[in-house]
Amino acid sequence: MSASPKRVRMVEVGPRDGLQNEAQTVPAATKIALIEKLADAGLKTVEAGSFVSPKWIPQMADTAEVLAGLRRAPGVSYPVLVPNMKGFEGALASHCDEIAVFAAASESFSQRNTNCSIAESYERIAPVAAAARAHNIRVRGYISTVVDCPYEGPIAPAAVAEMAAKLLSFGCYEISLGDTIGTGTPSRIQAMIDAVAAKVPVEKLAGHYHDTYGQALANILASLERGVATFDSSVAGLGGCPYAPGATGNVASEDVLYMLDGMGVATGVDLKKLAATGQFISAALGREPASKVARALAAKAAKGK
Ligand code: HMG
Ligand code: MG
Repeated sequence: MSASPKRVRMVEVGPRDGLQNEAQTVPAATKIALIEKLADAGLKTVEAGSFVSPKWIPQMADTAEVLAGLRRAPGVSYPVLVPNMKGFEGALASHCDEIAVFAAASESFSQRNTNCSIAESYERIAPVAAAARAHNIRVRGYISTVVDCPYEGPIAPAAVAEMAAKLLSFGCYEISLGDTIGTGTPSRIQAMIDAVAAKVPVEKLAGHYHDTYGQALANILASLERGVATFDSSVAGLGGCPYAPGATGNVASEDVLYMLDGMGVATGVDLKKLAATGQFISAALGREPASKVARALAAKAAKGK
């Protein structure tokens, strides 16, 4: 078993995974302010949007406008999701330094999310990854439904491992393992990681856990025990996936950071600034943050007044 990491990289996915699932349209200026505040809180990777079909995900249709208006901080990466060459052209035109390709370990989810089979998704991803590398653009790989699929049920860890190895062979520098519907529990997450880590070095793995069943923090802890040192999260717990009915947001970044701070794990992220950012976007959406830590901090601050 690997030693639990003393340093963790937090990948903020709220502006993409969070806002892609909002019923209301969030203005580009609000998205830009959100992304800039997240970088100012110390996050070094902030997913900024996606170049996908606006018919499928209208909430991300303004990604080029967001990237054009963004003050990019030195040392911060702003990846965008790219499903095909058309999306890659968009990312290139917007001077992106990093893209994320995505596939699903379940055939049904692949069809629902990207209108193609797993084999066809490889045919789309390979040229995108090759073009990105030719332009010195880093490529991150996502795998959805690493534990359960909303349409097919349990997914074999071996299928996830095979896909992770394939994405690595395309040149992805990291594979983010998505518990898309948040049904995973620590033992199942560890079994999945053990299978994947047999094919891909654990340093190249990231956990991307939705919190639908309240298991995400426990799953992060279980992943830390296996040596995983990168975790995706959404400020204020924003998010979900439009093709995963009932799935709620990613684990809240504030909750992850509070836990890591408490464990003495370094992240470089400032909890106060992060919580203020969560309050900012929640106010823009007209609701309270889903983060328990954010709510507790707000209640404490209100009492102190
Ligand atoms: P399709 O309809 O099969 O594609 O969609 P197509 O090639 O037949 O094109 C149809 C139309 O879309 C055409 O326009 C294309 O130009 C346009 P028309 O001629 O009809 O006017 N089009 C595009 N427009 C803009 N950008 C593009 C693009 N591509 C085609 N890149 C496609 C296939 C993959 C495009 C579609 O299924 C799609 O966009 N899917 C994306 C779905 C998505 O974004 N899902 C959420 C992100 S994944 C996620 O959340 C999971 C994750 O968080 C991990 C986890 O939690 O598990 C990452
Ligand atoms: Mg997700």
